[in-house]
Amino acid sequence: MSIHQKEVLLEIKNLHKTFGYKKVHEGVYLQLLKGEILGLFGGSGTGKSVLIRSIIGLENPDSGEIIFENQNIVGMDEQQLCKIRTQIGYVFQNGALFDSLTVEENLAYPLSEHTDLTPSEIKQKVDQMLNLIDMPQSHHLLPNELSGGMQKRAGLARAIILEPKIILFDEPTAGLDPINTKRLLDNIKKLKTTGITGIFVTHDIPSAFEISDRIAILYDGKIYFNDSIENIKKSKDPLIQSFVKG
Ligand SMILES: Nc1ncnc2c1ncn2[C@@H]1O[C@H](COP(=O)(O)OP(=O)(O)O)[C@@H](O)[C@H]1O
Ligand SMILES: [Mg+2]
Repeated sequence: MSIHQKEVLLEIKNLHKTFGYKKVHEGVYLQLLKGEILGLFGGSGTGKSVLIRSIIGLENPDSGEIIFENQNIVGMDEQQLCKIRTQIGYVFQNGALFDSLTVEENLAYPLSEHTDLTPSEIKQKVDQMLNLIDMPQSHHLLPNELSGGMQKRAGLARAIILEPKIILFDEPTAGLDPINTKRLLDNIKKLKTTGITGIFVTHDIPSAFEISDRIAILYDGKIYFNDSIENIKKSKDPLIQSFVKG
């Protein structure tokens, strides 16, 4: 391996998934390199969410492999998956906070569950995360006291608080107004300067171009395009152009 080649953190090989008669994945291949953000495009219902969910074992592919740290995630039992989920963070479409816990308790929960940090170390980490998401005074608020934009940012903070090796974003800006979209993107950009690795699923093409290092397009059960932003913009393929033009 040349020293210029980047480490592959995640490798999806020949993934197949059907729901009844509906074929969703028909041989998906995809690699995620350390330190990159991969923008994942695809029409509605093409299987982007199923792919993301498969990576953390919330879906059961029919065949194929998802290799993370020399282990195949496909077919793992719940106990193994729990461990994977501490290393692969998942930003849900709706933030997915616990309704009855405050923001501080929501963020502290993964730390008290999965680390040996002391209460004061946990407090420090929670403060650091709340600063990152521009919500420094929100410790004692309940999720239903937050705006939609704040809920998403809190969901982001909770997904990354264990410092996962990979962060999966499934349409994180869906349903947000332009101001809140920009706030969330600014948070993700701040995170990017720390060298995170992730997959960013979105219909928001300008946002994806700002944040991603590379773009993949899921189409008809397969990865149809997988290249740089420069090359997606240059492409003359009508299908690819339809994504770029929105
Ligand atoms: N649990 C399920 N049962 C049956 N069909 C499903 C299920 N989850 C997803 N699908 C179908 O799989 C396809 C891909 O879904 P999804 O990954 O959510 O698409 P998207 O690319 O919009 O995120 C859709 O046709 C959807 O209806
Ligand atoms: Mg989806």
